[in-house]
This record gives sequence, C-alpha cells and structure tokens, in this order.
Amino acid sequence: MPLLRVRNLRVRFETADGTVNAVNGVDLGVEAGQSIAVVGESGSGKSQIMFAIMGLLARNGSASGSVELEGREVLNLAEEELNRIRSRHIAMVFQDPMTALNPYLRISDQMTEVLTVHRRMSRREAREEAIRMLEAMDIPDARSRIGQFPHEYSGGMRQRVLVAMALLCRPRLLIADEPTTALDVTVQQQIMRLLSEARAEQGTALILVTHDVGVVAGHCDEMVVLYGGRIMESGPVKAVFAAPRHPYTRGLLNAVPRLDRDDEDLPAIPGDPPDAQRLPAGCPFAQRCPRADERCRRVLPALESFAPGRAAACHHPLA
Ligand SMILES: Nc1ncnc2c1ncn2[C@@H]1O[C@H](COP(=O)(O)OP(=O)(O)O)[C@@H](O)[C@H]1O
Ligand code: SF4
Ligand SMILES: [Mg+2]
Repeated sequence: MPLLRVRNLRVRFETADGTVNAVNGVDLGVEAGQSIAVVGESGSGKSQIMFAIMGLLARNGSASGSVELEGREVLNLAEEELNRIRSRHIAMVFQDPMTALNPYLRISDQMTEVLTVHRRMSRREAREEAIRMLEAMDIPDARSRIGQFPHEYSGGMRQRVLVAMALLCRPRLLIADEPTTALDVTVQQQIMRLLSEARAEQGTALILVTHDVGVVAGHCDEMVVLYGGRIMESGPVKAVFAAPRHPYTRGLLNAVPRLDRDDEDLPAIPGDPPDAQRLPAGCPFAQRCPRADERCRRVLPALESFAPGRAAACHHPLA
C-alpha cells in the first residue's frame, strides 16, 4: 500500500469574477521513504495540491477526488480528525519561514511545544531533543542559540529551524513547498542536503514542490511536471532529465543554468502560463509550444504511459 495516493484531484475556487480551475485531475503516488518532486511554473497548481492534501484550502476553495493516507481517505475530513491524522503522518515546510514562526516566542519554546504535545516528552527531554535536532541542522552553537528569538536568526537559519521542527514529529511524509526559494544558492544546497540526510536517517518520504528544476536532480527519485493544474509528464528524475518526452519539460530543463553555457542566453520558455479561469479546450501548453497544431488546440491530450514508470500528455511527444 502506498503511503499517499492521490486520485483525480480537482481544486477550484469561486471568486467574484468566476471559477478558477486550479487543479484539474491530478494523480500522485508516494511510497514510504520515497522522494517526489512536483515541478512547474508559478500558478501551475502545485501549492493547491498540497493544501488539498493537508486540508488547508482557502475558504473559497473546494476539492474533489481522493486522497488516501495509508489506505485511509482523508480528503474533506472533519477538521478535528484531520488534525489528529495530520500531526502523526504529515508535516509541511513553507516558502516563507517568518510567517510560520511566532516572532514573540523563543525558538526553544516553539520547538519544544511540538515535542511536549505530540510526543509527550517532559520539558527537559524536549529541550535536549530540540538542541540535538538544531545541531543536526548545522545551527552553530545550538545550545545557547535555542534561547533566541526568530529575528535573531538569519533567513537560512530560520528555514533550517522549520525543517527541524517538521522532522521533530517524525512524520512519515514531509511536504516542502518551495523551501529554498527565498534563500541564496549556498543555503539552498545546504537545506536540500539536510532534507536528504533526514530522509535517509528517519525514512521520511518527501514531496518537494519547486518551480526550479535545478534543485531536483540528486535529491528526488521521481518527478511530476505540472502545467495548468494538470500533469504533463511524470517519471524517474534521471530518465526524465536524460530524455524529456513533453515539450514543456524540455523547455523547463533547457532553462536550468549549466556550466557549459553563458547564463545570459538562458532560453526561458516564451509566453505566459494559461489563466486558470480561462483554460483552453485543448492542450494547455498549445499557445507556447513550438510543435502545436490544430489537433493540439482542439483536443486535450491524455496522460499516457509510454514506458514502465513513465507517462506524458502530448499528441506529438519528443522522441
Ligand atoms: N483563494 C484563491 N482564490 C482564487 N484563486 C486562487 C486562490 N488560491 C490560489 N488560486 C489560484 O490557483 C492557481 C494555482 O495556484 P498555486 O497552486 O498556488 O500555484 P503554484 O504552482 O505557484 O503553487 C493560481 O491561478 C492561483 O491564482
Ligand atoms: S499536445 Fe501539442 S501543444 Fe501540447 S505539448 Fe504536445 S505538441 Fe505541444
Ligand atoms: Mg506555490
């Protein structure tokens, strides 16, 4: 049984000027200990998939389909029950660490609360465990710094505190939504390394949400490419990088900085992502795709498997 199975997930928002179709029939599976990257440009529906899984959609949003956690349906569960399951199984790290930390509480109080509440430790045990976790996250001088307030930490340190806090509950699944987007490259790499180490030690499964395919290689087993709230391509990271099948995936990969190329000429994909309020009838990528023809504009391509573990949604896939 997979740890997480998402089937035909749809998320829509009702707004004053119409319905926003943010997620349009997404399937995902995560095995215990596995790491999956969900990749796509801003607005492609990545965060809303995660919020639907966590039961954290905005008030004007609704979700349909199925989200099973260890075989149990959790989509649209009542708040209380969801909280219980969530705290035992899933933890989430968001992009902006400052909004997730309480500025008025010392780091020690924020970290130990997780342990005294969820793991029923005494305050002393909890403090020692929190210090151990901060040390594992390379926070210098953790024993004295744990008494400080969030504003006394750098952005990168705050993000590491959040990763540490997420791991303190020993979740079976960690969802990291753009965890390194606001950080510089060195700190990004450090956070990704710490996530990978924690995964190896605790056996935590990881869903890494990112608009930057560059951070995926070396950290994730599988990847899913999202566009217009739909999966365009999925498969093992190595295989997809070596031979992308979908023109959009190739566009994303071409935009990753490489040492053998001058970054000035980075070929970004021309054009803009589709408006989730006015999705086209056919392929959502058609307006930007060099291979698009009449059929692409009329008929929505289905996500089809073309090799074991790989699938793409395209009428004219790359060879
Ligand atoms: N509360 C909301 N009301 C209306 N539209 C929303 C709301 N939240 C998100 N959206 C829209 O849903 C789409 C997907 O958003 P999101 O999943 O956050 O994208 P990203 O891939 O950048 O994480 C976007 O078009 C966004 O504007
Ligand atoms: S279906 Fe057509 S428009 Fe869409 S990605 Fe494939 S070739 Fe391009
Ligand atoms: Mg997002």
